[in-house]
This record gives sequence, structure tokens and C-alpha cells, in this order.
Amino acid sequence: MVNYKDLGLVNTREMFAKAVKGGYAIPAFNFNTMEQMQAIVMAAVETKSPVIMQVSKGARNYANGTILRNLAKGAVEYAKELGCPNPQIVLHLDHGDSFELCKDCIDNGFSSVMIDGSSLPYEENIKLTKKVVEYAHKYDVTVEAELGVLAGVEDEVSAAESHYTKPEEVVDFATRTGCDSLAISIGTSHGAHKFTPEQCTLVNGVLVPPPLAFDVLHAIEKKLPGFPIVLHGSSSVPQEEVETINKYGGKLDAAIGIPEEQLREASKSAVCKINIDSDSRLAMTAAIRKYLAENPSHFDPRQYLKPARENMKKMYIHKIVNVLGSDNKL
Ligand code: G3H
Ligand code: 13P
Ligand code: ZN
Repeated sequence: MVNYKDLGLVNTREMFAKAVKGGYAIPAFNFNTMEQMQAIVMAAVETKSPVIMQVSKGARNYANGTILRNLAKGAVEYAKELGCPNPQIVLHLDHGDSFELCKDCIDNGFSSVMIDGSSLPYEENIKLTKKVVEYAHKYDVTVEAELGVLAGVEDEVSAAESHYTKPEEVVDFATRTGCDSLAISIGTSHGAHKFTPEQCTLVNGVLVPPPLAFDVLHAIEKKLPGFPIVLHGSSSVPQEEVETINKYGGKLDAAIGIPEEQLREASKSAVCKINIDSDSRLAMTAAIRKYLAENPSHFDPRQYLKPARENMKKMYIHKIVNVLGSDNKL
């Protein structure tokens, strides 16, 4: 058993309470590689922001759970080395799909887990979530649950269409499961293709997607005042990164994300955790494609991973300061 407290990590409880009260959101950045971890830590330290480093099942398969846990431990030590004496770093399991996976993470240094029972029938979602909560709380690990279905297709997360969270279910769900936070569906989705051009309106030459269902969010907030709400699928898909990728040999058609103004607005509500993965993938890929196209004779990975890390760090800082508002909250 490895307890997260021995690694210098924290759970989400206090962090979320402060964020809900303060009208900002904590960034939850996915990581699979050392460079992503370094960029996340550098950005969090420079902006004095708490941060959630999250690991999907796919990340564990790619990089190995033990290695990722030690990267998170290294993240705490690295943050201190960079001049932050008390970093607030959460190691979170993203989209846990079974009790066994959640238990394995809790037993191996994670300070927070998500049990994603959103594709199950309501009563089964409650039963599974409650089982995870009972185990997690013995070790002071916090649990994120999900109600409602997000559209989007990725390695480990797939659904053909979305169903908004039903506000009339949230009190019963939160009370019976004892979960610490709730991911909801209000129109975000996973990946870099969140909307088709046909779903968007052309404004000054820019495709603007339909707005998020703020009415559903506000109805949920009314039912569960002050309860921490989570938004998945919240990458904005910066068009300059898409253009760079396409300019240097990539082929990303109609990549459209969530406008940042909408995430800024959501951050001021009970939404206190915003998940971003695709934007990091885009920032990394754009920098690597550009570097290799401009330096065709280079083959040392450090040469192209350095600008990739810089570009991700720049993106993380932008999200923290200009979108989520979690800077200077340590
Ligand atoms: O929401 C899912 C995250 O973007 C993780 O994606 O399962 O491909 O690692 P992944
Ligand atoms: P994006 O694909 O929009 O980055 O969403 C990531 C996410 O929700 C991780 O759980
Ligand atoms: Zn997600």
C-alpha cells in the first residue's frame, strides 16, 4: 500500500471547497509523458496554482502505473525545487471504469479517483459509485462520479451521442453515493472534433459552436448548492495549433472545441474542475511537426521535445491565468 500523503500529494476536498467559494476552477491536465508532467509543474509553479494531474486507463497502459505514480511524486519534489514550498498537486484517476481499477489506484498512491458509471443504468451507477466511495474514503481519497453522457470517441471513452445530466437526479445521486464531486454533461465532449461545421454558426469568418447548456448547469447548482461540479471534454482546440499541424504535414479537418469565454463563465460557477487533454496533445504535436519540418536533419528527441514542452507550458499557463482563474490561489 502506498499512501498519497507519503508522496506529498493532496486530495481534492479543500481545493474544491476553496474554488467553489472563490469562483474559479482547478485545471485537470492529463499526462502520459515526463515532458507533460514537467510542463504542468512549471506552469503551476509559475502561476502559483493548485493543479490536478490526471491519468487515464490508456495512460496507465501506455506508460505503466508505477512510472506515472513516481512521476507524480517527482512532480511534488520538482515543484519544491522550482521554488514552491507547498505545492498543491492531486494525482487523479481519469475515467476509472471498475471498482478494481479504482482500488488499485487508491492502493498505489492516487489521491483522487473518478468512477465513471455514466454509461450504466442509474441504479447500477449508484451501486458502483457507492462501493468505490466506501473504499476510497477509508484512505481519505476523494471520488468524482458522473451523471449524464458526453459524446465523443477516444481510446477509452466512447459514446455515440450525449445526454445532458438530469437536474432532478443529482440530489438523490450525490446523497446515496456520497461522492465528493460530480461530472455533468452540458454539451462538452471529448477529443478535438467536438462539433461538426454544420452545428456551428459562421461569425466574422469563424465557426462558433452552439453554447453550453448553462440552464442545466444552473438548475444543478440550485439543487446542490456549493457542491463541486466537474466539466470533462473542455479543450478549446486552438486554431493556431491546428493550422500549424496542417501547415507542417498534418491533416486535421474541422477540429472545433469549446470557446474559452464559455469555460471562463463556467469557472465562476460551482464548476471547480475543468478537464483538458486534447489541447495538450495539439500543442505538443504542433511544436514537434514544426521543429522536424524546419530541422530535417535533427534526430535527437531532446531537440524536438524541448519546444514541445515549452509550447505545452505556454498553453497551461494561458488556461490557468486567462480561462480558469486558478492563479495565485496557493
Ligand atoms: O477523457 C479522456 C482523456 O482525454 C484521456 O484519453 O483515454 O486516450 O488517454 P485517453
Ligand atoms: P478534451 O478531450 O476536451 O481535452 O477532454 C479531456 C477530458 O475530459 C479528460 O477526462
Ligand atoms: Zn473526460
